[in-house]
Amino acid sequence: VLLDDDGAVIAEGFHRGAGTPHAEAVALDAAGERARGATAVVTLEPCRHTGRTGPCAQRLVEAGVARVVFAQSDPNPMAAGGATLLRGAGVEVVAGVMAGEAETVNREWSAAMRLQRPFVTWKTGVTLDGRVAAADGTSRWITSAASRRDAHALRAKCDAILVGTGTALADDPALTAREVEAARQPLRVVAGLRDLPPSSRLLDDAAETLVLRTRDPHEVLAALWRRECRHVLLEGGPTLAAAFVGIGLVDEVVAYVAPTLLGAGPSALGDLGIRTIADAPRWCLLSADVIGDAGSQRDVRLTLTPGPPRPGTPEPHRKDG
Ligand SMILES: NC(=O)c1ccc[n+]([C@@H]2O[C@H](COP(=O)([O-])OP(=O)(O)OC[C@H]3O[C@@H](n4cnc5c(N)ncnc54)[C@H](OP(=O)(O)O)[C@@H]3O)[C@@H](O)[C@H]2O)c1
Repeated sequence: VLLDDDGAVIAEGFHRGAGTPHAEAVALDAAGERARGATAVVTLEPCRHTGRTGPCAQRLVEAGVARVVFAQSDPNPMAAGGATLLRGAGVEVVAGVMAGEAETVNREWSAAMRLQRPFVTWKTGVTLDGRVAAADGTSRWITSAASRRDAHALRAKCDAILVGTGTALADDPALTAREVEAARQPLRVVAGLRDLPPSSRLLDDAAETLVLRTRDPHEVLAALWRRECRHVLLEGGPTLAAAFVGIGLVDEVVAYVAPTLLGAGPSALGDLGIRTIADAPRWCLLSADVIGDAGSQRDVRLTLTPGPPRPGTPEPHRKDG
C-alpha cells in the first residue's frame, strides 16, 4: 500500500503468483508520479534481486518513495538486502512491524525459503481405524462431500499436487481443484517408474501434469522447487507417504477422519521401520475441526506438525462447523 502524508491510500498492489509482478511494482505502476514522497507499507522486505521481475527496492528508490515500512525480512538469501539498498539511497526504513503476523500469513512460503525446498502438506482421508482403502482397493468415498470440498480448497492454495503411480493407476484421479474458486489449477505431479495409460485423467488438459520417473523424494522436491513450487500437497497412497514421512520431508499433516471402520485394507502409511512404541515420533496437534452439518456424515479434520508440542504452541482449537 502506498500512503500519502495524511495516511490516505494512493495505490495498492499484491503478488498474484510466481512470474507475475511483485506487489510493489503493481502499486507503483498504479500510482505513477503520485508515488514521489509516499510511504510504502509492505508485508515482505522489498527484494533486491532480478528474477523474473526486477528488484523492487530499486524501483521504490527510482519512484521517489520517501519511507518504507515492512513486516518480515526476506528469508530468501537470494533476494534479501533490500532494506540496506533502500537505506543507502536515503529512504527511511522501518522493519519488523507485525513481523509475527506476516510470518503466519506467509507460513508455507517462509518455511520453504528457509528450507530451500517446497513446504510439504500430506493430506489423507482415513477411516477411524486409519485405513485409506478397502481390501478390494476401493476408496471412494471414505470421507464426506463436505470434507472433499474442504480438500479442494486446500488444493487451490497449493502450487502442486503429488501422487505416486500407485494412486494414479488405482484411482485415476483428476487432481484438480473443483467446487471452489481457484485462481489457477495447481501443477499435477506423478512420481514413479511405471507408465500411465494414455487414457489417464492426469494426462487430460484440465491442468498441467508433470510425470517424474523417479522414486527419490529429494529429486521430486528439487524438480518442483526449480519450477517455483513452494507448497506441495502430497496426496499419494501409503507408499509415497511413508517415503516422505520416513525421511522427514512432511511439514504438515491434514487428516480427514471419517466415522467408519474397515478392519482390513491398506493403512494410511506404509512401514516406517518402527518396531517399538518408544521409537514412534510424536506430532503436535494444531487444530481439530468438525467438517459437515448435522444430519449428514461429519468428519474430523486434524492438522498436525512434526515434533512434540513446544512452549508457546497455541491450544488446539476445537470447532463445530
Ligand atoms: N484415502 C486416501 O486419502 C488415499 C489417498 C491416496 C491413495 N489412496 C489409496 O492408496 C492406494 C494406492 O497406494 P500406493 O501406496 O500404491 O500409492 P502411492 O503411494 O501413490 O504410489 C506408490 C507407487 O509410487 C511409486 N513411487 C514413487 N516414489 C516412491 C518411493 N519413494 N518409494 C516407493 N515407491 C515410490 C512406486 O511405483 P513404481 O513402481 O511405478 O515406481 C510405488 O509403487 C489406492 O487404493 C488408493 O485408493 C487413498
